[in-house]
Amino acid sequence: MNEKKVLFTIFGATGDLAQRKLYPSLFRLYRKGDLVESFAIIGTARRPWSNEVYRDIVKETIAGLEPTPEEAEAFSSHFYYQSHDVQDTEHYNTLKKLSDELDEKYQLDGNRLFYLAMSPNFFGTIVAHLQSQGMLEVDGYHRVIIEKPFGTDYETARQLNEEIATVFNEEDIYRIDHYLGKEMVQNISAIRFANNFFESMWNNRFIDNIQINIAEDLGVEERGGYYEKSGALKDMVQNHILQVLALLAMEPPVAFSEKEIRVEKIKALEAVRVYTPEEVAKNFVRAQYSTGKFKGEDFTGYKNELNVDANSETETFVAGKFVIDNFRWSGVPFYVRTGKRLTEKGTRINIVFKQVPVNVFKSAIGTKSNQQLEPNVLTIYIQPTEGFSLSLNGKEVGPGFNMLPIHLEHRNSSEVMSNTPEAYEKLMLDALNGDGTNFTHWDEVAQSWRVVDVIRQAWDQDHSVLPQYPARTMGPKEAYDLLEKDGFKWIWAPDEWYRERNLLD
Ligand code: BG6
Repeated sequence: MNEKKVLFTIFGATGDLAQRKLYPSLFRLYRKGDLVESFAIIGTARRPWSNEVYRDIVKETIAGLEPTPEEAEAFSSHFYYQSHDVQDTEHYNTLKKLSDELDEKYQLDGNRLFYLAMSPNFFGTIVAHLQSQGMLEVDGYHRVIIEKPFGTDYETARQLNEEIATVFNEEDIYRIDHYLGKEMVQNISAIRFANNFFESMWNNRFIDNIQINIAEDLGVEERGGYYEKSGALKDMVQNHILQVLALLAMEPPVAFSEKEIRVEKIKALEAVRVYTPEEVAKNFVRAQYSTGKFKGEDFTGYKNELNVDANSETETFVAGKFVIDNFRWSGVPFYVRTGKRLTEKGTRINIVFKQVPVNVFKSAIGTKSNQQLEPNVLTIYIQPTEGFSLSLNGKEVGPGFNMLPIHLEHRNSSEVMSNTPEAYEKLMLDALNGDGTNFTHWDEVAQSWRVVDVIRQAWDQDHSVLPQYPARTMGPKEAYDLLEKDGFKWIWAPDEWYRERNLLD
């Protein structure tokens, strides 16, 4: 029996994240028997909901998982709502009373997991009150899960961390980066460390460059208010992209344990060069989407989105080159690219291997005599499809010795994918099990901010015109130039595919 005994207290219970991700994930854990009877959830937020309203909402959020009416009823009966002003001390006393009652009623052994899924401005206030009002004075474990953004730069992150660290030990702080819960992000370590084939070539002798893409086809949606202050750099690069980079770049851990992986990830992040403003100008590109047309549909520009300043200078796209100053990676650029309203949604990593030292087939391919072979590329597909592919060169069937790229592909089937646990489900289970491997340690967060802060500061000093890219394309020309000047190109080029089919201008 793997039943967990726990009281969840979710701050931000009426919010989008709770409804879209947390309740369905908890339901999946319930269905799988990780949560059975001994669990309760207190949802808190400002709105004056009753338990009944809350439970109805919870039921709605899990409707897509097709529970039976009895299942939905039984599951939602574990949810309690407490209207709460996070700055009002008295409210924590009410919360404590309810927590103690539920602890008793469901026999929870004092285990408490606090989930902070609301504005980060209040994280410090909340944890201080949890302690001062005695909510942590029971037996059992007390852990806190914290949503991003963790600070808005190194300094604010440091202050926030200090506030949290006065209440919780580092091992009880679970900083979420939901990319670390994704199946194929977790698979990066498997691909690297379970295949001698790759790991022996995973260095600057064999790899030319590495490309990390996180493309979104959606625009900023209703999150203009948040995004205006964040931009793509802080929204995606500081966290998801640098985490993926750390997994790709780290040294093999001596054991696959939380402690050992952490040590290696931190070392990898510390080797990422912190740029000077001149290096930022050379190695990083930002841009914003303007109006665009794709497959006959018109898309509005960022400046016209809801809650966005009509003169906004916020970047919705970043492409850049990171360099890692250590023995393994010296000379290997890590190109990254992320943005909103790109051609299509896709997270994929391309590991581009070096060419063979001499192309003996050159003379055999007639008119194409100067053509280089295509590089060998290992692609890791993270989403929407999951899997990997390897492109090799083989001989074209027939006379002569023309080389053709061949793709070996493995994609998870839709059946496997539909059974793949959602990132949040996995991460919540990890937190219940006390396993912090797939969460970000403070040292990782701190180093990521140091790397990103200099980029942001350099941009703040640079008043040149922000490049634009038409909505539903893969970014501005500058992003292509970035690789071209190094003699490389983006391996993933969906625009070409759509242009060939006249679906994009
Ligand atoms: C979030 C960002 O962290 O990640 C969003 O704040 C972004 O802006 C999202 O849309 C992307 O996540 P996913 O899982 O859809 O790739």
